[in-house]
Amino acid sequence: MCGIVGYIGKEPLISFLLNGLSKLEYRGYDSAGIAIHKQDSIKVFKAQGKLDNLRSLLKGNEEDEKAFIGIGHIRWATHGVPNEINAHPHVSFENKVALVHNGIIENYKELKEELTVKGFVFQSQTDTEVIAHLIEDCLKDTKDFGHALRCALKKLDGAYALGVLFKEDPETLYAAKKNAPLIVGLSDKGNYIASDVPALLEYTKKVIYLNDLEVAEIKENSIKITDIEGKILNRKPEIIPWEPISINKMGYKHFMLKEIHEQPDVIRQTLFNRLTNQTDPIKLDEVKLTEESLKNLKRIQIIACGTSLHAALVGKYLIEEFIGLPVDVEASSEYIYKRVVSDKNSLTIGVSQSGETADTITALRLAKEKGSHILVITNRPDSTMARDADSLLPINAGFEVSVAATKSYTAQLLAFYLLALKLAEINKSLPAEKLEEYKKELLHLPHKVEMILNHTEEIKKCAIKFNSSKDFIFIARGINYPVALEGALKLKEISYINATGYPAGELKHGPIAMLDKTMPVVAILVPGKVFEKVLSNSEESKAREARMIAVTSSDDKKLESVFKYILKVPQTDEIFSPILTTIPLQLLAYYIAEFLGKDVDQPRNLAKSVTVE
Ligand code: F6R
Repeated sequence: MCGIVGYIGKEPLISFLLNGLSKLEYRGYDSAGIAIHKQDSIKVFKAQGKLDNLRSLLKGNEEDEKAFIGIGHIRWATHGVPNEINAHPHVSFENKVALVHNGIIENYKELKEELTVKGFVFQSQTDTEVIAHLIEDCLKDTKDFGHALRCALKKLDGAYALGVLFKEDPETLYAAKKNAPLIVGLSDKGNYIASDVPALLEYTKKVIYLNDLEVAEIKENSIKITDIEGKILNRKPEIIPWEPISINKMGYKHFMLKEIHEQPDVIRQTLFNRLTNQTDPIKLDEVKLTEESLKNLKRIQIIACGTSLHAALVGKYLIEEFIGLPVDVEASSEYIYKRVVSDKNSLTIGVSQSGETADTITALRLAKEKGSHILVITNRPDSTMARDADSLLPINAGFEVSVAATKSYTAQLLAFYLLALKLAEINKSLPAEKLEEYKKELLHLPHKVEMILNHTEEIKKCAIKFNSSKDFIFIARGINYPVALEGALKLKEISYINATGYPAGELKHGPIAMLDKTMPVVAILVPGKVFEKVLSNSEESKAREARMIAVTSSDDKKLESVFKYILKVPQTDEIFSPILTTIPLQLLAYYIAEFLGKDVDQPRNLAKSVTVE
């Protein structure tokens, strides 16, 4: 989704703006732009499409490197098509203000009407442009630029992270935020702003995470932070505990393939220091609830979006199975528009790779208001969600560049296995031998994932055979049902082939009407409670001439008469099978998309971190 950078200082400006934006590129965007302060005026460069188009536009403007202050943006279109006019930065009517914005201004239509009556003329279809005009309008009553900015912010409903330049204040970079992340970076070579850490890591690790409704007035050697009323706040910088991220494909064709192959190590990392030996208790010091409160929990709810929602569904299954406590799973975007049923005897778990998904942040805040303890499972311990949380369970998947989540999902699953087993330990709800057996199997999983990754020939064959299919159906039952949903989502996201996941038993209640000899049906079936049931649903599909593919750990000969393609995974207890059955589905989606020549790492219309509602 959109990204912001800004700099004030004597180092080469354009190089920083372009490099900083390139570090945010992985988030997904469709246009880019920068604004710099040069000789008492503001110069703006914008280009539709990828950052390279902006780079080409800037060729021949090397002199601009010496400019002292500038802002940059990559835009993921929300209001108005992705073109040069709608790209940021946006400039006010009399060119006195230029700004970049992440977020959505909900009352922009009303503001636009008011400003139009006052004579402001709009160029773009964006919500952002109103902010530039609004600040310029506020400047009519004051010479204090910070005051004008705060005056405009008070009129905005919605979410914003802003970087602002004033034509008449060439010595200050302004920034502000509400419900969208923004950080200020401090260094002895000048100061920075960015919407996310990777943009700054090469330049500084000393940062201030702006809070909602704070405004920063940033000079080359000093930073003033105020609240929305102008009261000066004393904010101390902190040091980001990250090394510069090597955004490098390490010989793989795409980040997605590299990240799929990182999964054995990601599992090891997530288990590290939490489970080292099957006979030891699981260490989850991050969960700040006492054992007593964990025992007294009446209900757990899990809130997430997309792939994280699928991990949540596996988590529900595990917790209900291991301790018999009711668990509700809700899509964040649904949770926030209904009556919030939550209290101090409930635990609310938020799951998010990025920790910045706007809907999940809002949902968790609503649950917190009702007194629920908030536990966040995320790959970004520095994110808004993590900072809001009462307890934080980091998943240690490492930086995920590909928009389609793979290794972060597997690590989220691992976090749920650890949590569910910990709850079972505390509640003594599983026999000691069973607990030990489960912990032992968890420790074997990295190797089993490696075995799948070392034998991908059958998956590739399948991808070649099926890449011209227009639709796919994925079926499974029980703990693998969320895997069917995830397999379908991965395929849709990166190949744009229509795919739907169903509980296998639901087929005959409608979807079976879709089956004919053109339809591939991917069935996930592992020995256990529901094996025979999924097999029988697969037979029903085969009887309708569907093209059958199995993901299985079974050696049962019966499978050969039903499935033309059998993608094998190593044997494990059914309860752990989602960690293994997911991998061939990630690879199937990957190879199909790669075969079709799609932009695997940055699929159309998608963003890595969905910071707008
Ligand atoms: C799918 C994918 C998305 C995200 C969803 C939630 O590959 O990445 O469906 O899972 O946008 O994002 P997070 O996990 O960052 O809250």
